[in-house]
Amino acid sequence: MTYEVTVEPTGDVIEVEEGQTILDAALRQGVWLPFACGHGTCGTCKVQVVEGDADLGNASPFALMDVERDEGKVLACCAIPESDLVIEADIDVDPDFEGYSVEDFSAKVIKIDDLSPTIKGITLELDHPITFQAGQYINLEIPDVEGSRAFSIANSPSHSSIVELHVRLVPGGAATTWLHKTLKEGDELSLSGPYGQFFVRKSDVKDVIFIAGGSGLSSPQSMIMDLLEQGDTRQIYLFQGARNLAELYNRDLLTELAEKHSNFHYIPALNAPTAEDQWQGFTGYVHEAAIDHFDGKFAGHKAYLCGPPPMIDSAISALMQGRVFEADIHMEKFLTAA
Ligand code: FES
Repeated sequence: MTYEVTVEPTGDVIEVEEGQTILDAALRQGVWLPFACGHGTCGTCKVQVVEGDADLGNASPFALMDVERDEGKVLACCAIPESDLVIEADIDVDPDFEGYSVEDFSAKVIKIDDLSPTIKGITLELDHPITFQAGQYINLEIPDVEGSRAFSIANSPSHSSIVELHVRLVPGGAATTWLHKTLKEGDELSLSGPYGQFFVRKSDVKDVIFIAGGSGLSSPQSMIMDLLEQGDTRQIYLFQGARNLAELYNRDLLTELAEKHSNFHYIPALNAPTAEDQWQGFTGYVHEAAIDHFDGKFAGHKAYLCGPPPMIDSAISALMQGRVFEADIHMEKFLTAA
């Protein structure tokens, strides 16, 4: 049994299988609806049901209040149609969003690297190519762990038969512990994607500042490789933050890229270098490295931020004080996969 869901105001029609959520069906059919958490807690995917009935699924009472339920609102990531539906969504699609359909993949682990003491690089070979925009993420299924985990894709979209992930070990986190301790080369995993709204607005030709912390380098790495492969001539700055030298991963790769491309500038920053590091570079937090480099004046740039929430908050305030418009700041607060 399938139901037809008409999405207004675009008039897109999607087919929803029995038991499938509206959001899952929409993303798999290339119809974009706003969403964030994907499991009923943030409220980003709220839509109005204009005609028909839907089961509300696991919508949290905080994300969908009683009064909203009475008004016929549902969360698209949880709602399962019980009849054909007409829904009204607040769709504001960025013109640079390419909107590739979500697909399921099975994948073989072809490489596991120790990028830092706490971050592993896991490269998966897919059973068929994935089309994605640099900066997007996949949802990975982990054996015996409930729910999927989101990881940004670190490779360029031009390498469509693989996905490279940067996985930080979260103490006590079942999924990342399994990926660090049990996963081995040759194993098979399932994943779906691409997801996410973090991508370079290429039609806006302003110079670009990337600020990355922790394993938040993955999306910027993909976005920078994509821009450079395409011969983009804007100035591209990457500020990468880590505690110490051992945690500053992929430094050789990024230094080589900067040597090869005169418009790419790589500025690493360590906030707690050890004596053995003999660190000659910037010492301090990564947003402070950006302030130092630009003398606090960022006007005329677009910024992409990826990392833990405190890093993002500090970077936003530095950028805005340095005259970057809010509309020119894009971010991926850590998809903290535990
Ligand atoms: Fe967060 Fe649906 S996406 S509640």
